[in-house]
Amino acid sequence: MLVIEGRAFRDGRIEPAAIGVEDGRIVAIKKQLRGDPVYRYSEAVILPGGVDVHVHLRDPGLTQKDDFFSGTESAAAGGVTTVVDMPNTVPPVTDGERLRDKLRTVSRNANVDFGLYGGPTNAVDVESSRGATAFKTYLAESTNAPAVRDDATLAGILLSVAQADSFLAAHCEDPAAFRPGAAKGLEDHHRLRPIEAEVAAVQRVARLRGAARVHIAHVTTAGAARARPPGATCEATPHHLLLSTASSLGARGKVNPPLRPEGDRDALWRELLAGGIDMFASDHAPHTLEEKSQAFDAAPAGVPGVATTFPVLFRYVRRQLLPLDRFVAMFSGNPARLLRANKGEIAIGRDADLLVVDPRRVEKVTARRCRYKCGWTPFEGAEATFPTATFVRGALVAQEGELVTERTGRMITASQP
Ligand code: DOR
Ligand code: ZN
Repeated sequence: MLVIEGRAFRDGRIEPAAIGVEDGRIVAIKKQLRGDPVYRYSEAVILPGGVDVHVHLRDPGLTQKDDFFSGTESAAAGGVTTVVDMPNTVPPVTDGERLRDKLRTVSRNANVDFGLYGGPTNAVDVESSRGATAFKTYLAESTNAPAVRDDATLAGILLSVAQADSFLAAHCEDPAAFRPGAAKGLEDHHRLRPIEAEVAAVQRVARLRGAARVHIAHVTTAGAARARPPGATCEATPHHLLLSTASSLGARGKVNPPLRPEGDRDALWRELLAGGIDMFASDHAPHTLEEKSQAFDAAPAGVPGVATTFPVLFRYVRRQLLPLDRFVAMFSGNPARLLRANKGEIAIGRDADLLVVDPRRVEKVTARRCRYKCGWTPFEGAEATFPTATFVRGALVAQEGELVTERTGRMITASQP
């Protein structure tokens, strides 16, 4: 039995514990355990590894930006032990055949566990993609992503998703509410793809969803979170929580949906603290510096983020602005539940996906520490607390950001009721 010792977070408390692991699962949690090997982290805190339901790892087809190996290396460096990859790779993962092709391409290159979204354009696509972890639909065009514009098609997709007992993650922006023009900066980008467009698209999903489980991706405003239908979940990204149109990032800060003004960013935090946001997700969407150096209007939208969710948000826990149990629920427990994956908490029977952190340590974010293939991060220089170690099903995958075990990641299957 492998044993990991430290101060573990479980049942809402931090307590000294020895966590015993066999065949990748937690089999014992005691004050002391004998085992081999034993990893001793005496004063450090052990938390469930992160589950990020929204990443774009760019594999296949766009591997100049990122790839499955480097993207999952970045995940491990940031304490994320499961990622779910979006379908807007090249070619887009519209049907079952493309899903299986993608799985063949990426499956041996994963450093953390992973799921794959299908990106159906109609109900038949959903039926052919039964192996997908879940499904993703864009209500407006975005980078390499066709939009599902008519209601009948969207309703058909939702019905098939319900029949597959899966869920639909929705990118909610309504192109009918976009304004014409060319954006020169972050303020413009926000004005041209306004908040009303986001709220209108959430309302459209609410109207059409039928019996389907629905997850609203990257809400940027309290209004979008509140417009979701009863029982639907939603996520917020670190960039929408920490950056605004006031940032000096220029085209590097261009993302869809856009960064919002400070007032809306504040309101998003208030909504989160009031319990209205279910989970964090990075929407890790790297582009090369060359692509991001074009004029604002020509530059692609998206920012890298899979490695920084934990480091930049844990600061709010350290400062006691965000309770630890709420942070863990949003980083691990709630997204694991959405996926019905056997992950997201330190408990007997769960996968031993763990991160170890010294809460007193404060560093600065660098693209190097994040192991980003794209070579940049919108959080460069920000105060951060990186995990010291990351375990996936008991394997020590990363230590101080360095990969220790390679290619140990597997595709997840739903197993949590
Ligand atoms: O900013 C974005 N980037 N929004 C999306 O919807 C897609 C993503 C990407 O893949 O680059
Ligand atoms: Zn995305």
